[in-house]
Amino acid sequence: MLAAYDYPTALACSSSPLTDIVLVGDSLAQICLGHSSTTQLTLSEIIHHAKAVAKGTSHPLLLGDMPFGTYYTSVDTAVSNAVHLIKEGGVEGVKMEGGREIADIVRRLTEVGIPVMAHVGLLPQRHTSLSGYKVQGKTVDGAKKLMADALALQDAGAFALLIEAVPLELGKYITERLKIPTIGVGAGPHTSGQVCLHLFLFSEKEKLILSDKALVCDDVMGGSEHTAKFVRSFANLREVRVNAIQSFGEAIRNGSFPDPVNESYKTEKTEWARFLSSETWEDNDTQ
Ligand code: KIV
Repeated sequence: MLAAYDYPTALACSSSPLTDIVLVGDSLAQICLGHSSTTQLTLSEIIHHAKAVAKGTSHPLLLGDMPFGTYYTSVDTAVSNAVHLIKEGGVEGVKMEGGREIADIVRRLTEVGIPVMAHVGLLPQRHTSLSGYKVQGKTVDGAKKLMADALALQDAGAFALLIEAVPLELGKYITERLKIPTIGVGAGPHTSGQVCLHLFLFSEKEKLILSDKALVCDDVMGGSEHTAKFVRSFANLREVRVNAIQSFGEAIRNGSFPDPVNESYKTEKTEWARFLSSETWEDNDTQ
């Protein structure tokens, strides 16, 4: 599973037949919109971006995150907001953060035909009450709570479970006990699938700012200097981008771009000659 936030990243995600799911994640808040956390993201913002992602998404299943505050107040509100995200944003299912306390919502959405991926472990939308972005389920009580949440969400009809930032033993334990697939992010190698976020559009300074805001700064494209423990870079697109910008500036300054033959349009010779011979205007007409 890969996160996409706009048309180009959606095209990139869809370019491999190995991508199973694309998520318009609420990390959109920090990664693209400069918010300080996901709690600031609105439904309209994610719908706006989901529309663009949907246009660039071909084969994978497309999911959208339900933003903070759009699904707790009542089951009806949750259904109505999920329907907006699907109808206007063009996603096919939703992801939402929470444990047993959102089971009724997951059940209702599933009943009305909206596939739900539940999200447990570190819940970025609750970073304030969790006192930051910390690894979850490290204690006996914490692990028990997560296992009970996972079972309740499966029972409520979630088609998959995203597990964020838990010890690898717990990621494996939960995965082995569920019938639905698990998607891990910082949950070790034993979950059924993994999710990566694209952060390749940021400078070093921007990455440092961002890394303060989220634990999940996975970086499949190598754009990030921030290294959460579970991050691996699969390509260095940051270097490619920085070099391209530098080369563009240099080529303009040394006159090698654009090339008059291969990178410029030409008027047909006789047409140009006719144009020049038709010149009748006085100097001051051209000013
Ligand atoms: O918003 C997001 O990108 C997420 C990740 C954990 C997948 O929820």
